[in-house]
Amino acid sequence: MTDVASQGPAEGDDRPVLTNRQGHPVYDNQNQRTVGARGPATLENYQFLEKISHFDRERIPERVVHARGAVAFGYFEATGTWGDEPISKYTRAKLFQEAGKRTDLAIRFSTVIGGRDSSEAARDPRGFAVKFYTEDGNWDLVGNNLAVFFIRDAIKFPDVIHALKPDPVTFRQEPARIFDFMSQTPEAMHMLVNLFSPRGIPANYRTQQGFGVNTYKWVNAEGVTHLVKYHWLPKAGVKSLTEADAAVIQAGDLGHASKDLYEAIERGDYPEWDLHVQLMSDDEHPELDFDPLDDTKVWPENEFPAKKVGTMVLNRNVTDHFQENEQISFGTGVLVDGLDFSDDKMLVGRTFSYSDTQRYRVGPNYLQLPVNQPKNATVRTNQRGGQMSYYVDGGGENPHVNYEPSITGGLREAQYPTHDEQGPEIVGRLTRKRIPRTNDYTQAGQRYLLLEQWEKDDLVANFVQLIGQADRKVQERMVWHFYMCEDELGARVGEGLGISLEEIKDLPPLASQTLSEDELARLANLG
Ligand code: HEM
Repeated sequence: MTDVASQGPAEGDDRPVLTNRQGHPVYDNQNQRTVGARGPATLENYQFLEKISHFDRERIPERVVHARGAVAFGYFEATGTWGDEPISKYTRAKLFQEAGKRTDLAIRFSTVIGGRDSSEAARDPRGFAVKFYTEDGNWDLVGNNLAVFFIRDAIKFPDVIHALKPDPVTFRQEPARIFDFMSQTPEAMHMLVNLFSPRGIPANYRTQQGFGVNTYKWVNAEGVTHLVKYHWLPKAGVKSLTEADAAVIQAGDLGHASKDLYEAIERGDYPEWDLHVQLMSDDEHPELDFDPLDDTKVWPENEFPAKKVGTMVLNRNVTDHFQENEQISFGTGVLVDGLDFSDDKMLVGRTFSYSDTQRYRVGPNYLQLPVNQPKNATVRTNQRGGQMSYYVDGGGENPHVNYEPSITGGLREAQYPTHDEQGPEIVGRLTRKRIPRTNDYTQAGQRYLLLEQWEKDDLVANFVQLIGQADRKVQERMVWHFYMCEDELGARVGEGLGISLEEIKDLPPLASQTLSEDELARLANLG
């Protein structure tokens, strides 16, 4: 009998020949090498072993958060001005200087809590991570669609994520666990009002806003710093889903948002966002009732106007999901000259966490991968070796000198562009303390009042449905927090849960809370 697979290519089939990773042609991809047609198999079969053992290693650990995402590529085009002022007055970052200047970029949209194949119609913040490939190296702006976050100190991040992730025993996302944690976390109220309103389920990735969330700094040529917040506004407008809309989509498709983005780009309907920034002088702003470094707060736009500094256009899809999505790696420490960190207590923790997880998740040489390389800047380091080292980063002329300093070759340090010292001088004692101006309720209440009626109704229904699954003590504390935010919100959620104002109004503040005088006055007058 003839062996079908060994017959070779059909006549006229001029497609390229399959090889293994050693470059050896594969003559038979259907049958292992065996002793006789019925086996046993042999172990020296390199081609088979290479194929199967590579398959065994096809997956890398998924991101610990934001596992499911969609990537696209495009460019950023700068306005060169901030309102009617030249942007150079505030930052020397090159990508913003000239009107019309374009910078290549990659963006990854994501959900947070679900795994790599989970639903894109889930109620979840959406990640909004942009990598600008500038001539000064990469700049990553890693944000979300909701403008604020659950917590303000990085040390609480593993806890908030554990509460939101599936239960370690049942492996089910449990509302009782989520609201147990949130009831003890008053700074989360602003985020919760956003997340459980329709904004918590964007209709798709093209119709959502993006925000840097954390406060960063801009630095000009004289070394003068300003605090800055970033906002991406979609030209397609903002569209959100109710819980019921999302359930219908989810029943038929777990990946509707990736599909929508991919198909729009394929048909040439390129999504666009305008980038706006808000600026503030670089100081503590004691006149404000919140701390400008607190990522649970937004900056009121009437006092700190958001002005356009450029537009992002997405015009190319990925060519391979694994290479360009699974391996792309963003981080809040990835800044270029003219952009800087603030002392926001989340930022420092984030900045450690991203590259730390990427060295584990992708590998120590993750920055050598094409999607992560600074495409428009030259890389020259003395870093060598490590797993999967793909090439030697451009070194000096003498390949023996992979150290610095040296008088026999190698690389030298760069000159500071202008200033090496910038920003206010800070003096303080080492301590572990909350920031003084926590003000956890005012903006959450204002946010509730700004919602349209259908959004308020959906928010209240969601809270009642989910908090109703938690312990009674948790329910009571949540209603107490909602009253502290806004009477109407407290009353409506309380009514849904069968909890009256009388039952909760004498609850003492949490032991972890220090209420301000305004908040104590509010507590005395609830309802
Ligand atoms: C992804 C940590 C807060 C937005 C991640 C990842 C980690 C992480 C470990 C996975 C990264 C990877 O595997 O490549 C933290 C920590 C935080 C924090 C420790 C607080 C201290 C935030 C906040 C935002 C945010 C406040 C929004 C402003 C994102 C986004 C991604 C991400 C968008 C996905 C990036 C991508 O698409 O690859 N975060 N995060 N994170 N985080 Fe955070």
